[in-house]
Amino acid sequence: MVQKKLKKMEKLIGHKVNCAVFISGNGTNLCSILKSSRKKDFPIKVKLVISNKASANGLKYARLNNIPYKIFSSLNMKIFEKKTIKELKKNKIEFICLAGFLKILSKKFINNFKYRIINIHPSLLPKYKGLNTHFRVIKNKDKISGCTVHYVSSKLDSGKIILQKKVKVKNSDTSLSLQKRILKQEHKLYPRAIKTIFS
Ligand code: GRF
Repeated sequence: MVQKKLKKMEKLIGHKVNCAVFISGNGTNLCSILKSSRKKDFPIKVKLVISNKASANGLKYARLNNIPYKIFSSLNMKIFEKKTIKELKKNKIEFICLAGFLKILSKKFINNFKYRIINIHPSLLPKYKGLNTHFRVIKNKDKISGCTVHYVSSKLDSGKIILQKKVKVKNSDTSLSLQKRILKQEHKLYPRAIKTIFS
């Protein structure tokens, strides 16, 4: 139902769907989305990057690709969202990808983009919502972990799941080695999930 609506949106607009990516850190998922979006058959175009941190390393990908970006840092969420919404409107943004964005958006903001805002999380949701997922996986001696792309709802890491990828946990894994292996899979999963919801 939702997927049909999104596909219809793409067709109605007649061009790639205008997307904003929100980041706070390294932005490697932003980089993978940008790479995919160069392909003709990829349904979205990254038109704007929003960061809540001036020091976010991922901003380099926006600069390298000449994508406009805005930094709204040191602000309370109300001000952050007000400024962000203004930019989203200005750039005619229709779809949002959260990629390592560490702020919690308000219910009102999320409802305005219902089923048009998605996130990637480094665990097999509903397991390990929140932070330090890899550390908790190792501590609990889990054999399998992975990553999830999901719609964003007002409850943290709880929206409808779009796609997941399992990753085996090795006995020798540390949280860092597991994080690196899962991140590689995230870079494939995020573009796949975007294609899935528009197909
Ligand atoms: C990823 O592991 C993502 O799942 C989580 O934050 C990390 C962001 O990595 N939400 P990057 O900034 O995309 O490199």
